[in-house]
Amino acid sequence: MENQEKFYITTPIYYPSDNLHIGHAYCSVAADTMARFKKQTGFDTYFLTGTDEHGQKIERKAQAKGVTPQAYVDEIVSGIKELWKLMDVEYDDFIRTSDERHVKAVQKIFRKLYDQGDIYKGSYEGWYCTPCESFFTELQLKDGCCPDCGRPVEKTNEEAYFFKLGKYQQWLIDYIEAHPDFIQPASRKNEMVNNFLKPGLQDLCVSRTSIKWGVPVDFDPKHTVYVWLDALTNYITALGYESADDSLYQKYWPANIHLVGKEIIRFHTIIWPIILHALDLPLPKQVFGHGWLVLDGMKMSKSLGNVVDPVVLCKRYGSDAIRYFLMREMPFGSDGQFSYEALLTRINADLANDLGNLVSRTVAMVEKYFDGVVPQHGEWDENDRALIALAQETPAKVLKRMDELQFSLALQDIWQLIGECNRYIDVNAPWVLIKSEEGKERLKTVMYVLCECIRVAAVLIAPTMPRTPARIFEQLGVNDASLCSWESASRFGLLPAGTKVQKGEALFPRIDIKKELADIVPTPAQPQPEKKPEKKPEPAKQAEDGGMITIDDFAKIQLRVARILTASRVEGSDKLLKFTLRLTAEEPERTVVSGIAKFYTPEEMVGKQVVLVSNLKPAKLRGIRSEGMILCASDAKDETLKLATVEPGMEDGAYIR
Ligand code: MSP
Repeated sequence: MENQEKFYITTPIYYPSDNLHIGHAYCSVAADTMARFKKQTGFDTYFLTGTDEHGQKIERKAQAKGVTPQAYVDEIVSGIKELWKLMDVEYDDFIRTSDERHVKAVQKIFRKLYDQGDIYKGSYEGWYCTPCESFFTELQLKDGCCPDCGRPVEKTNEEAYFFKLGKYQQWLIDYIEAHPDFIQPASRKNEMVNNFLKPGLQDLCVSRTSIKWGVPVDFDPKHTVYVWLDALTNYITALGYESADDSLYQKYWPANIHLVGKEIIRFHTIIWPIILHALDLPLPKQVFGHGWLVLDGMKMSKSLGNVVDPVVLCKRYGSDAIRYFLMREMPFGSDGQFSYEALLTRINADLANDLGNLVSRTVAMVEKYFDGVVPQHGEWDENDRALIALAQETPAKVLKRMDELQFSLALQDIWQLIGECNRYIDVNAPWVLIKSEEGKERLKTVMYVLCECIRVAAVLIAPTMPRTPARIFEQLGVNDASLCSWESASRFGLLPAGTKVQKGEALFPRIDIKKELADIVPTPAQPQPEKKPEKKPEPAKQAEDGGMITIDDFAKIQLRVARILTASRVEGSDKLLKFTLRLTAEEPERTVVSGIAKFYTPEEMVGKQVVLVSNLKPAKLRGIRSEGMILCASDAKDETLKLATVEPGMEDGAYIR
C-alpha cells in the first residue's frame, strides 16, 4: 500500500454552541460519507473535524455562566463528540483551537508572518461585530450596523497587528483563474472574484488587545490572535505543522477538500489561501461551499428558534435513516428544505418500501421456495442480463457522482438499481413460477440474481448508511469480507450458491406518517407575537365590524425590514423589477418581483431597506418565483408610488409590529 493515494478532507471547525442542529450535522455527515467512500475505494484517507473555541462570544457566555471559558467549552465539546458518535461521524482527528498543540503552532505561524514583514503593528480604529467576529471600517458599515448580519457593532480603537492581504490580491486572482476547481461550485468563484477580490483587499486586523480568550501573540502577549486566523490554521496545525512531529502534515497536506457552508467560503478562499501562500505552503485542492438546510424558508439558527435536534431524530428513526435523508434530499451545493414530512416520506418510500421490502421479500422467498439456501442459477435470459448490466454499471456511476460531490445523485443511481430489482420481482412473478417444475428451475436464477443485486446495493450504500449493510449481509448470509468490498460490487456473481439466508427484522419499519407528525412537536419557524388560539372570523361578524380586523388577524401578517442586494428589470415587462433581498444573515436571500419599474430604476433600489410581507405564499410572476411582497404607498390614481421604509438605523430582518 506504499503508493496509495492520499485523501484529506475537513469540515469547518464548529463554534461550541450549546446544541449543534441538523444543519451542522449536514456538513459533518457529508464529509464523513465522502471519507468513508474514499476509504472504501482504496484511498489513504484522513478526516478532520473539530471546534473553534476562542473569541469574545465564548468569553461572554462563560462569564454569564460564571465559569472559565475553558470549562465552558469543555462541556460543550464533549456533547459535540457524543453527537458525532451517535451519527457515526468517524473522524481521524478532532482539533480544538484551545489544544496546546494548536495554540503553539498558531503562535509560530503568527511570528513567522511578522518576521517576514507580512504582519505589522499599527493601530486600529473601527467597529467590531461580536456575533460575526469581524472588524469593519466606518465605510463598510451599513446604516451604522454590521454589513453582514445587520446587528449593532461596537467601536474599537486599539493598537493592533495587521496582515498585508492587499499585497497578495493579484496573485490570488491569478491563482483562482488558473485553478478552476479551487472554488466549487463554480458560481461561488465569480462571487468571490467579482465581489471581494476585484474591488480590492484591505489589510486585515489580526490581533485584539481587548479579548483575552484567544491565542496570545507570544512576542507581545497583551494581543490575542484574530479568531479567523486562529481558526483557519487548524487544518494544518492538526497535522502537526510547526511541531516536532509533522509527519501527518508531510503526508496529507494539501487537503483535497475543505467542505464549508456557503457563508464562510469567503474566509476559506481569500484569507486562508493568502495565509498559506505567505507561508509558502501549497493551497488546498478544493474548497467546496455547500448550501444550507433551511426550515420554513429560513436557515436554521438557534436565535431564530427554528432548529431541529439531530439527537432526537437519530434516536427516533436511527442515524442511517437521517444520514440517508440528509444526503439524498438536496443537491449538494444548493439550499434544501428540511421538513418532517419529507423525512418521513423518504423513510417510508425509499427505505422501508424500496430497500427494506426488497431485502425482506427476497430473503423470505429464498426461505420459502428453497429452504433458505441461495440456489445455483441457470442461463441468463434478457431480463436477467438487463438487471445484471445495471448492477455492474452502478458502481462506476456512483464513483463519478461521488467525485463530483453529488451525494444525492449517487444515491439516486443506487436506488435505480433497487427499483429495478423490485420491478424484476414483479415481472418474473416468483409466486407463479413456483407452481410448475420448469418455473421452479427459472426461479432459481431469479432468486440468485436478486440476492446478488442486493449484495451489490449493500456495498454501495455503506458510506452513507454505515450500519445497514451489516444487517443486510447477515440476512443474506454473507460473512466473507471480500464479498462486501468495493471491488466486489462490480463483479457480479461472487455470491456462492448454497449460501444460507436468514430472515431478520425489518430494516426500516414503516411509519404511520400522520400519527408521527402529530407526535413530534414541530419547532415554531420563528418568534411569533403571542397568539390566542386561532378563530376564523365569521363573514357576518366581519360585516358588522365594518371590515375591521382583530389584532390576531394582524398578527398573521409578517412585516419585516429587508435590504435590497440586487435589482434588475424583468425581461419583457415594463412594470416589473426583480430583486434579491436580505433579511438576517442566517436566512437565505429572497427573490421578489415587484411592479414598480415605472417609478424606480434598478440602480436606485440597490442598498435600500424596504418593508417586506415575508410570509406571503410564493407566487410565480413571469416565470419567476416571488417570495414576498414589497410595500409601497400609491396615490388614488396609481400615478405616484413611493416605497414604504423605516427610519435609518434599523437592522435588516427586523420585525415590524
Ligand atoms: N467556526 C466557524 C468555522 C471556522 S472554519 C475554520 C463556523 N462555525 S459554525 O459552527 O457556525 O458552522 C460550522 C458549519 O456548519 C459551517 O460550514 C456552516 O455553514 C454549517 N452550518 C450551520 N448551519 C447550517 C445549516 N442550516 N445548513 C447547512 N450547514 C449549516 O462557521
